[in-house]
Amino acid sequence: MHELVIVLDYGSQYAQLIARRVRECRVYCEILPHDISCEDLASRNPKAIILSGGPASVLRKGHPQIDPGILSMGIPVFGICYGMQLISKVLGGSLEKGRSGEYGPATIDIDIDGSLFSGLGSTIDVWMSHGDQVTTVPEGFSVIARTRVCPIAAMGDPEKNIFGVQFHPEVVHTPLGKEIIKNYLFKIGLCSGDWNMAGFIEESIRAIKQRVGSSRVICGLSGGVDSAVAAALINTAIGDQMTAIFVDNGLLRAGEVKEIRDIFMKQYPLNLDIVDARQAFFNNLRGITDPEEKRKRIGNTFIDVFHSEADRIGGAEFLAQGTLYPDIIESRSAKGGPSATIKSHHNVGGLPDDMRFELVEPLKELFKDEVRLLGRELGLPDVLINRQPFPGPGLGVRILGEVNEHNVAILQEADLRVQEEIRNFSGYDDIWQSFAVLLPVKSVGVMGDERTYANVVAIRAVSSLDGMTADWVKIPYDVLARISSRIINEVAGVNRVVYDISSKPPSTIEWE
Ligand code: XMP
Repeated sequence: MHELVIVLDYGSQYAQLIARRVRECRVYCEILPHDISCEDLASRNPKAIILSGGPASVLRKGHPQIDPGILSMGIPVFGICYGMQLISKVLGGSLEKGRSGEYGPATIDIDIDGSLFSGLGSTIDVWMSHGDQVTTVPEGFSVIARTRVCPIAAMGDPEKNIFGVQFHPEVVHTPLGKEIIKNYLFKIGLCSGDWNMAGFIEESIRAIKQRVGSSRVICGLSGGVDSAVAAALINTAIGDQMTAIFVDNGLLRAGEVKEIRDIFMKQYPLNLDIVDARQAFFNNLRGITDPEEKRKRIGNTFIDVFHSEADRIGGAEFLAQGTLYPDIIESRSAKGGPSATIKSHHNVGGLPDDMRFELVEPLKELFKDEVRLLGRELGLPDVLINRQPFPGPGLGVRILGEVNEHNVAILQEADLRVQEEIRNFSGYDDIWQSFAVLLPVKSVGVMGDERTYANVVAIRAVSSLDGMTADWVKIPYDVLARISSRIINEVAGVNRVVYDISSKPPSTIEWE
């Protein structure tokens, strides 16, 4: 077994980022709820523990706690922001509500160049985001860094190996943050960095075989990277015991069915079943405009299709999906942690309760970049690995208002033009997703001498590391101009194109 570092989640969306940073250091890391007991935690034998930040205040009643035993187990603990404040409170330090809080960039002066800041110089640029702050450190602790506004920006007790920082080392706005996390893992936690993809594959194969025994598994292929990698991994583990099912739900991009057939029948052959279920999806979506209802109906229809395929194949008890860590956290919030549900991602939150499959989700602890790495290691072709993410509910969440064959056909044509033109943009490789959205509004235009009254298409292009946050991409005007002109001239039924300039948060990437 490999080394384990545990992040206790205090409700920060950054908890995932912390876990990513740790794994980037080749140390396996999991996020667990903050109310785990000391005994439960000890039974997992972690090398080190990290307490995440969070929106609560330790100065308010009912704030999220920690089992105090965790701080005396002899296992190193590193508290970030709220995590540091909690350590201070539990161990007898004092805190106050900062006068104005501290949000944004700051420079810390390092008082003691101990193991946490080892080799990083005497000042470091960091990212602060806190209201409360520690005013007296607990007994045995020293102040190890300060800013003008925050006299205790970091504290530590090197004997107990408990440290805390008020700033956020996990965000890119703390440029040396990863080095601080590395120091914690390797100098304080004495990790060796024994986690890698080859090891992950071996462990997963063992776990999949053990879980499914001699049963059959059906694996929903969505056309995206995640489900393809899940299928490849399960195929490596159990071969023909798995049937990959690609459902043509009528909500796919232009040319997608052919592309998937070429890849999984020729380039990376596996047991593939392509099911034409377009009519069932369109029937179930007729007249539905509410985004959550659409997602639920699409999820249910997928399951209906999987059930009937399972009956046809016989003996399939398991349904495999390419669910990732961020999907689970956004849909359900971190393993019961306190963050809010944003959307029911269909491969997690949108599944019906009466589904008769057990789920196999071999990627559910991985982040997107790790999934791409895994796909490469498994030998999947680059065209597939480098594909932009595509949501399970497909174009269904990119057509606002009713989803029907007519609207899908318009959107497919518009989307095709976006894809063709945006590839010519030199920054294409940095784009996380780029696509067209069909809006439920019509506007007036003039073509030739004729008045038109037709649909509006929005173009969306975002950059992102993991889909959790995203920025809109500054696509050059000439590329936008070509996209717009081609869509308006070549796609019947569209007379206006707009560009979406919203970031996530507060918007989301998909429009529904
Ligand atoms: P949002 O719209 O929530 O999307 O900002 C974040 C990322 O998740 C993708 N997405 C989904 N993926 N099933 C999926 O497999 C879904 O139901 C789903 N909804 C959104 C979205 O494309 C983006 O990459």
